[in-house]
Amino acid sequence: MALGRCRFFGACFIGILFFHGFCACDRAPYYSFILNATSAPTISYYDYIIVGGGTAGCPLAATLSQNASVLLLERGGSPYGNPNITNLSKFGAALSDPSPTSPSQRFISEDGVINARARVLGGGSCLNAGFYTRASLEYIRAAGWDGRLANKSYHWVERRVAFEPQMGPWQSAVRDGLLEAGVLPNNGFTYDHIKGTKVGGTIFDREGNRHTAADLLEDANPGGLTVLLHATVYKILFATKAGPKPVAHGVIYRDASGAKHRAYLKRGLKNEIIVSSGALGSPQLLMLSGVGPAQQLRAHNITVVLDQPMVGQLMSDNPMNAIFVPSPLPVEVSLIQVVGITQYGSYIEAASGENFGGSPQRDYGMFSPKEYD
Ligand SMILES: *[C@@H]1O[C@H](CO)[C@@H](O)[C@H](O)[C@H]1NC(C)=O
Ligand SMILES: *[C@@H]1O[C@H](CO)[C@@H](O)[C@H](O)[C@H]1NC(C)=O
Ligand SMILES: *[C@@H]1O[C@H](CO)[C@@H](O)[C@H](O)[C@H]1NC(C)=O
Ligand SMILES: *[C@@H]1O[C@H](CO)[C@@H](O)[C@H](O)[C@H]1NC(C)=O
Ligand SMILES: *[C@@H]1O[C@H](CO)[C@@H](O)[C@H](O)[C@H]1NC(C)=O
Ligand SMILES: *[C@@H]1O[C@H](CO)[C@@H](O)[C@H](O)[C@H]1NC(C)=O
Repeated sequence: MALGRCRFFGACFIGILFFHGFCACDRAPYYSFILNATSAPTISYYDYIIVGGGTAGCPLAATLSQNASVLLLERGGSPYGNPNITNLSKFGAALSDPSPTSPSQRFISEDGVINARARVLGGGSCLNAGFYTRASLEYIRAAGWDGRLANKSYHWVERRVAFEPQMGPWQSAVRDGLLEAGVLPNNGFTYDHIKGTKVGGTIFDREGNRHTAADLLEDANPGGLTVLLHATVYKILFATKAGPKPVAHGVIYRDASGAKHRAYLKRGLKNEIIVSSGALGSPQLLMLSGVGPAQQLRAHNITVVLDQPMVGQLMSDNPMNAIFVPSPLPVEVSLIQVVGITQYGSYIEAASGENFGGSPQRDYGMFSPKEYD
């Protein structure tokens, strides 16, 4: 059971990219446009190049492919056919798999906190506990988003990947407990982010199959999109002599065999390279490409394209306080369905049925208790 400000379970979904589906099937969809990067040409040209096929990159690629040619580059593999990702009862398997081919890449922050970053098409939606919520209206206002467009996007992702959960005994008890503790009002089932206790959306369908951001590619225009898997971008190419400001015009990526490929933007005023490589991956790629604090880049022999002192700095995450409750009787596996949104801005959520606390053989990374000196 996890109590506290729990970013991994909840807050990271707020906003842009989540998730209802009409297709409760567990068949992998057939995507003609998803290819292994080893089969890509050495040089290719597109209107848009998107680096990172996560919860931002997948819907963006689907939308842009309507009227333009789009390349989506993803360093990991496909989520389809891997039960560690797709099967609810396997939750935790990917997080406890530290191998180089795992969809979960474990890391430890400078202050010693264990965390994970996604390495798979669909990004964090392939690893997390699958809670779906809309952003609050205040958040949308503060972020400067177009509220009508945000609602249109919500309807899209809710049709594809969000579901009303079937509540078992454990999640029902959590809901009743929150109400008893005064996290009021009882908002019932809703996707809206409002104070009190609610049942939110889940990206797991009734059969326990996970639906990820990769499913949004079902709405892509197959004629406009190329998705390359096992394609690791390590440099954005800038033209520095064309005008007063450097202009990004291409990327270099490596495939699984280590071979280098280049993709360039076609000429066109709106054409862009979009970096959606995650909170860590995006600044890392900018810095490798020469955009960042000049002194730090020079220390690594990286040619400075633009001195941007804030790139890669002052990163922080929401704190998570977890309480583990051992049960003398087996409890069903359930992931986050209920949330208490308190007046203090914290979220109280709970999962059940997985022995996060008690097994020395399995280390779930961020979900396993640790001892510090
Ligand atoms: C992609 O191609 C490379 C080289 O042919 C191969 O080693 C790798 O296993 C392939 N990956 C997938 C997921 O097919
Ligand atoms: C694609 O073009 C159609 C017709 O002009 C337009 O309605 C739609 O908004 C365009 N889509 C994007 C993503 O630009
Ligand atoms: C998920 O895994 C469980 C336990 O291993 C298994 O019983 C179930 O059939 C699997 N579900 C699917 C849809 O594969
Ligand atoms: C699933 O996870 C287990 C460990 O948690 C790992 O040994 C296994 O290789 C994984 N399977 C796949 C298909 O990734
Ligand atoms: C978006 O939908 C919410 C309901 O979830 C509604 O309260 C809000 O007014 C809508 N925003 C716009 C701009 O239509
Ligand atoms: C930078 O280049 C110099 C000269 O080639 C070399 O001595 C130094 O080790 C390099 N530093 C790094 C961090 O690669």
